[in-house]
Amino acid sequence: MNYRDKVAFIAGGTTGINFGIANAFAAAGAKVAVLSRKQENVDTAVEALKAHGGEVLGFAADVRDADAVSAALAQAAETLGPIDALVSGAAGNFLAPADKLSPNAFKTVVDIDLLGTFNVLRSAHPYLRKPGAAVVNITAPQAWLPTVYQVHACAAKAGVDQVTRTCALEWGPVGIRVNGIAPGPIADTEGMRRLAPTPEATQALVASVPVRRYGTIQEIAKAALWLCSEDAGYVTGVILPVDGGWSLAGSGAMSAAMSG
Ligand code: HXC
Ligand code: NAP
Repeated sequence: MNYRDKVAFIAGGTTGINFGIANAFAAAGAKVAVLSRKQENVDTAVEALKAHGGEVLGFAADVRDADAVSAALAQAAETLGPIDALVSGAAGNFLAPADKLSPNAFKTVVDIDLLGTFNVLRSAHPYLRKPGAAVVNITAPQAWLPTVYQVHACAAKAGVDQVTRTCALEWGPVGIRVNGIAPGPIADTEGMRRLAPTPEATQALVASVPVRRYGTIQEIAKAALWLCSEDAGYVTGVILPVDGGWSLAGSGAMSAAMSG
């Protein structure tokens, strides 16, 4: 897929799945900007992305801080040009039973995932190419399948999916498409280190996936590049599971796997 002369902005794009997406855009020729909280993560990601030879910008900012997100998007657009592809993927998660979760812990995850996604989309809107831009929000099957010890992330990602669908409705007329990707369990990620921290938990999780394996970061990145391309020009408001059929296994199988 060719993204030469296109601009991609990836919020939360310095590690894991989101970095994989940023890396795939850079490899396809795009000018890329990434944003996350930790300067060290930003510096490492920028260095790696520059290896593809294109222009790269990095921003140390928290998606919960609307002003900081706005400033980063304005600077990215001023330096690189109008944004063709926007990915919102910053998230926080951990296993915790609902009755043991503090209100601040619940709020923290909702603020990062849901308010953060709203801040990213709202702040980006003035700088998105119109017509032609595409937005991808990174969600999870837990958005529609309740999963034990995940009340905070389930609620947050369900909200993210409604942001996706609502913005698809509002922004379609000006030529902006808005979609979501719901990854299943993805290998070598912080998410799986937290949700399936032991070999036994990993085994149980793999057994609950119809294709009987974890997905790869590259498989999510390819889906993101396709959704942002003209090949997906008539696709908007869709939440695309890239999960090896995991969501078909349902809430019970996913909850059993999360219980270890
Ligand atoms: C219970 C916890 C907790 C834990 C933190 N808290 N960790 N509660 N179990 N393991 C509580 C704290 O006690 C505090 O509440 C509140 O959460 C805020 O904690 P802070 O450490 O101040 O928050 P912050 O520094 O903003 O860090 C956010 C974070 C952290 C989410 C807690 O883990 C983080 O930065 N995560 C980013 C990386 C990450 O999670 N990647 C995986 C994404 S995977 P009190 O009441 O004490 O003040 C993913 C998979 C999705 O999203 C699939 C399922 C939907
Ligand atoms: P990850 O490596 O921890 O990625 C999260 C990224 O977001 C990091 O770069 C982190 O960098 C950044 N971030 C976190 N909080 C932030 C904040 N408040 N402001 C700005 N940036 C912030 O986790 P991952 O497992 O690859 O997950 C990536 C995405 O995929 C998430 O949306 C997650 O919900 C989704 N997902 C993952 C899986 C999986 O199998 N891993 C499954 C389903 C869905 P800093 O620490 O530098 O801020």
